[in-house]
Amino acid sequence: MTADRPYDIVLFGATGFTGALTAEYLARNADPGTRWALAGRNQAKLAAVRDRLAELDPACADLPLLHADTTDAASIEEIAESARVVITTVGPYVKYGEPLVAACARAGTDYVDLTGEPTFVDRMYVKYHDAAVRSGARIVHACGFDSIPHDLGAYYTVKQLPEGVPLHVEGFLRVRGDASGGTLHSAVGIFGDTAGMIRAERERRQVEDRPAGRTVRISRRPAPKARIGGGWTLPLPTIDPQIVVRSAAALDRYGPDFSYGHYVAVKRFATAAGMAAGSGALLALATLPPTRSLLLRLRTPGDGPAEERRARNWFSVKFVGEGGGRRVVTEVAGGDPGYTETAKMLAESALCLAHDDLPETAGQVTTATAMGDALIDRLVKAGITFRVLDAG
Ligand SMILES: NC(=O)c1ccc[n+]([C@@H]2O[C@H](COP(=O)([O-])OP(=O)(O)OC[C@H]3O[C@@H](n4cnc5c(N)ncnc54)[C@H](OP(=O)(O)O)[C@@H]3O)[C@@H](O)[C@H]2O)c1
Repeated sequence: MTADRPYDIVLFGATGFTGALTAEYLARNADPGTRWALAGRNQAKLAAVRDRLAELDPACADLPLLHADTTDAASIEEIAESARVVITTVGPYVKYGEPLVAACARAGTDYVDLTGEPTFVDRMYVKYHDAAVRSGARIVHACGFDSIPHDLGAYYTVKQLPEGVPLHVEGFLRVRGDASGGTLHSAVGIFGDTAGMIRAERERRQVEDRPAGRTVRISRRPAPKARIGGGWTLPLPTIDPQIVVRSAAALDRYGPDFSYGHYVAVKRFATAAGMAAGSGALLALATLPPTRSLLLRLRTPGDGPAEERRARNWFSVKFVGEGGGRRVVTEVAGGDPGYTETAKMLAESALCLAHDDLPETAGQVTTATAMGDALIDRLVKAGITFRVLDAG
């Protein structure tokens, strides 16, 4: 049992760009009585974060500051053993993330992060899923814009459709956003090691059970079946569709044969062509060491878009779901995807694990599987839209 631990939530990485926003969100919105603490490797920076939080809520002046550095295994074990849930924004996760997943899996501590790095998620599954199942820890990756709107949006769409029949869902993302230094460094890491990503995926496939008697798959159709509105669509090969089909594999409600296609939608052909060329260029530049270091110099870890910029950003994911003779269109939408809303989604995920009555799960689990409706309720109360646009 973890109930007698000193903290409900420890936030690791509170001194980073997204970590500080997550700390502010918790200071303003944590459920009354939540016992939480900040953790990081630099005490002076942590104290400065706490001073800013105390301006929002004077009670934060007493927040405990815990020393934790990924190069010091004992400090990581200590935070895992002191909390019921650990939030981490310490990325790139491929570089820094493993010790904390290992410690949480061992200690039976629930864990949430912001990774969008498939290699990291697959490696953590292979190495720690079984230990987490044994200890009862819920290891929930991708609790930010990657992949909550897509995972919970697909889940919400499935729930509008008939049960026990084959279902096909397509998600179409429209977005205006920016990238922080931490995100740029993580993205370059993903694009720069596609061979490692393929290897990690293969190793996972060798050990992961498939759902018995049911089929789930990512639809790779380049031109989606269910276009919405005008404009152009491109397949979006992010971690999101992988997470969606893992939820489908875990939950019978997705039916006997579930497929999911994931796309970005833009108004103009020129934008679509620019995005395709830009992704190709990023892939090429991230692969070669000299151009990779030039790319990394574009933004420094710790930097991110200012509040006025974030206030202009937005996202909308429209889902078209079909099956059993029905067709529904739904939408998940909100403000600045990468940071303001990501901090909200991450903090609400941790609060949900700490306080809500949830289905029994353990091991590496998705947001839909571990938290589903309870997390949707929290996000709706926090201002993120989940709605049915057309019930067919
Ligand atoms: N999925 C999404 O939608 C989404 C959205 C936003 C961000 N992200 C991801 O979240 C991660 C963080 O992004 P960010 O922009 O907030 O990054 P950031 O500003 O660079 O923050 C990184 C944090 O990690 C800490 N850190 C680095 N090395 C450490 C170590 N060895 N031990 C302990 N702490 C260490 C830093 O501490 P110091 O302050 O002491 O340097 C800082 O607190 C990235 O991987 C990014 O891709 C994902």
